[in-house]
Amino acid sequence: MVHTEIKNYFIAQYAPNPLMVKAPGRINLIGEHTDYNEGLVLPASIEKGIYFAVAPNDLNLVQIETFLTQPEKIVFKLDGSPSQFKSFWGNYFKAIIEILLSKGYPLKGMDCVFGGDIPIGSGLSSSAALCCGFIYAITQISEKELTREEIALIAQKAEHQIGLNCGLMDQYAVLFGKKGNAFLLDCKDLSHKYIPINLTGYSWVLINSNIKHNLAVDSEYNKRRISCENIVRQVQQLKTGVTSLRDITLEDLSTISNATNSTDIMRAGYVIEENQRVRDMIKALTIGDAKLVGSILKKGHWAMSTQYEITTPELDFLVTTGDQLEGVMGSRMMGGGFGGCTINLVQTAKLAKSIAALLQAYKEKTNIDAEYYHLAIDDGVNVLRT
Ligand code: GLA
Repeated sequence: MVHTEIKNYFIAQYAPNPLMVKAPGRINLIGEHTDYNEGLVLPASIEKGIYFAVAPNDLNLVQIETFLTQPEKIVFKLDGSPSQFKSFWGNYFKAIIEILLSKGYPLKGMDCVFGGDIPIGSGLSSSAALCCGFIYAITQISEKELTREEIALIAQKAEHQIGLNCGLMDQYAVLFGKKGNAFLLDCKDLSHKYIPINLTGYSWVLINSNIKHNLAVDSEYNKRRISCENIVRQVQQLKTGVTSLRDITLEDLSTISNATNSTDIMRAGYVIEENQRVRDMIKALTIGDAKLVGSILKKGHWAMSTQYEITTPELDFLVTTGDQLEGVMGSRMMGGGFGGCTINLVQTAKLAKSIAALLQAYKEKTNIDAEYYHLAIDDGVNVLRT
C-alpha cells in the first residue's frame, strides 16, 4: 500500500509517529466547465488519493519530500522562500505557503512526505488533492484551524497563481466527498447536498485514455472561461441582474447572436445546457434509471466534443466504441478536457467482457494502452487511521 510505504519512509528519514492525511482524487458524474460559470456540478471523491505523512519539527523549516513520481525534496524557510526545485509539484507548495503567509497564517516548522496513486494529468484532480491535503495537514500541525471552505479557496487561489483559472468543483469534491454518494454543488452560492447513487447491477468504471493533459500550462481551458465571460458582458448590456452564465438563458443568447463571436455563443450554449443535464442526471439517479443515466452521459460527451471542443479523437473513440458494446449504458470524457479519462456506466454482469473489448479496440486504433479503474466512492480529506 502506498500509504504504508510513505509512512515507513517518513519514519526512517524524519521521526517516529507521523500524522497520516489522505486527500482523495475526484470523479465527476456530470457538470463539466460549469463551476466557474456559477453552475451545477455532480462530482464525488474516490478511493485513489494522495497521502501525506507529517510531523512538526523544531528547525523552523517546512521540509517536503516525495520519493515517488518526480522525486525531490524542497525546503522552505518560514518566510516562504524555497530551496531550488525542478519538479512541477513544488509550484503548488510554494503558492500555498505564500498565500498562507499573506493571510498572516502562523506557519510552523514541519516535515512532510507525500505520494499517492492518483494518475497525474488524467482528469482525476491530483492537483486539488495535493493542495487541499497539504493545507489540511498544515492546519493539523499548526493547530490553527481553517474551515474546509477556507481550505478550498486557498487551494483554488494556488491553482490560479500557477496559471489555471479553475472553479471550485475539484476542491469541494476533495474536501467534502462522502463514501457512496455523489456531491451536488451549486457554484452560485456554494450550497451542497449528497445524492445517493442507487444503481444496483451497474458499475462505474474509468478508462484512462493515457493522453495526458497539463491544464495549468495549456491555455485552452482558460480560453473557454474567457468566452463565457465575454457572453456575460454582452448580455449584461441588455438585461439586469446578470452576474454569470447561470443567469442567462438560451433565448438571451439568441438576442445577441448576430453581434457576437459564434464560438463564444456556442460555448455559452453548452454551459447552459450542461446545467440542465446535471438536473436531469439527479432525477435519473434518484429513480435509478440506468438507461437514462447512460443517455445523459453520452449527450454530455458529444456536447463537449462538438460545442465546447475539449475532447480528443481518442476520447471520442472510447465513447463511440463503448456505445456499440453490450452492457455499456453510456460514457463521457471527464474533467477539464484535452485528455484523461472517460467515466462509464456498465452493467456489472457484462463488465469484464465489454471492458476487455474496449481496451483492445483502443489499442488497435491508437496503439496506446488504456487503463481501467473500478470506481469506489470514498470520503473526503481526512486523517487516516492506520
Ligand atoms: C478542472 C477544473 C475544475 C472544472 C473542471 C471542468 O478540473 O479544475 O474547476 O472546471 O476542470 O469541469
